[in-house]
Amino acid sequence: MTSSDWGRNVGCLLPMPLTWLHISDLHVRSGDSYDRDVVFRALVKSVRRFRERDGRAPDLVFATGDIAYSGRPDEYVIATEFFDQLLEAAELDRCRLYVVPGNHDVDRDVGRQLIRELGSRTAADEYFHPDAPKLHLTHKLGAFLRWHQRYFDGIRTVPENSTCGPVELVQIRGQRLGILPINTALFCLDDNDHERLFVGRRCLDASLQELNGLRADIKIAFMHHPISDLSTLERQQIRAGLVDNLDVILTGHLHEEGYAVVGMWTARNLYCAAGATYQTRDWPNTASYATFDGGQVTIFPIRYEDQPREVWTVNPSQFPDAARHEMSFPVPSELSFRSLRVPGWDGVYRVPRPKLGDAAVPAVAIDPRPKRGRSVKVIRAEAEDWPARKQKGTRKTKTRGRRRS
Ligand SMILES: [Fe+2]
Repeated sequence: MTSSDWGRNVGCLLPMPLTWLHISDLHVRSGDSYDRDVVFRALVKSVRRFRERDGRAPDLVFATGDIAYSGRPDEYVIATEFFDQLLEAAELDRCRLYVVPGNHDVDRDVGRQLIRELGSRTAADEYFHPDAPKLHLTHKLGAFLRWHQRYFDGIRTVPENSTCGPVELVQIRGQRLGILPINTALFCLDDNDHERLFVGRRCLDASLQELNGLRADIKIAFMHHPISDLSTLERQQIRAGLVDNLDVILTGHLHEEGYAVVGMWTARNLYCAAGATYQTRDWPNTASYATFDGGQVTIFPIRYEDQPREVWTVNPSQFPDAARHEMSFPVPSELSFRSLRVPGWDGVYRVPRPKLGDAAVPAVAIDPRPKRGRSVKVIRAEAEDWPARKQKGTRKTKTRGRRRS
């Protein structure tokens, strides 16, 4: 019996669990597609099998960037086909798919005509002013932006004046999810992006304010890069904003699967890196399911196996000693859990702050697990973060499982 089954059986007593599938780094490109088709076809087939035979049915799918390989329109045509097949296998409508771009979704030729980075906090505040044009988003990420607006037409629209949002609140079986997409790819250009990327503090601030008005039971942010890739001009503030406001942060980019509970002195954020869902069959291809039951998130990591048959199955190496190779992480939602006085980085004991916001804003009820073609209201969305995992000098290390691009 899966955790989902268990939750449904005692649903009258406990919050009904909800499940999401986290994929990342698809690297879709034109040319010979055989290698990728084998992996994608196996993933679609396995998602269907997990749902039909194991009761592991995702309510949401998050894709954390690098959908394409070169940020070209033809690559998103291929991605559309894959997403459609994946959603059909999961029996989900498009409104339950959430996508942010990564460094491979930028057009580098366009990017070379734009400023490489921002030189000061003042410059960043000016650039991210809501009224300032953002050519990095509308041109450098133009193919992704146009694809996203078309694919999710009538569902959600990527703002052209912010890296964050649209914030959404969805209600699934009584659980209220706040969702925040964060675009970390505006200042991506080449293999020297580390510590040169910007989210924009004023973009995140505005979205967090919106997010905290939703009274979500769990707040999920998703983005491509880890926090460590952000410029030092804003990195600490972005990290603090996410730590103080989010429960779960989903990332990609590193091509390395990993999970950690992080949160300065509060230990209140769960960081999930999906690894790369496709980076050729010569490298590990991974993804994960996660189930939230009201108090914890249980991770079920999966990976692609190439022989003797192409299949996605449980990845036992992530949690080798855990039952069914699933691992549960607390996602504290009660203040009392965090109200212990604990030492901060400077040795000073403090009382961790409560979640910000939580204003009384009613959620719009949404039918659980909408089928394809059914109308589902989307309410709003939110943001996300990831711990510093990459150190300088390791970027080009081509260790199996740590490759990134
Ligand atoms: Fe990637």
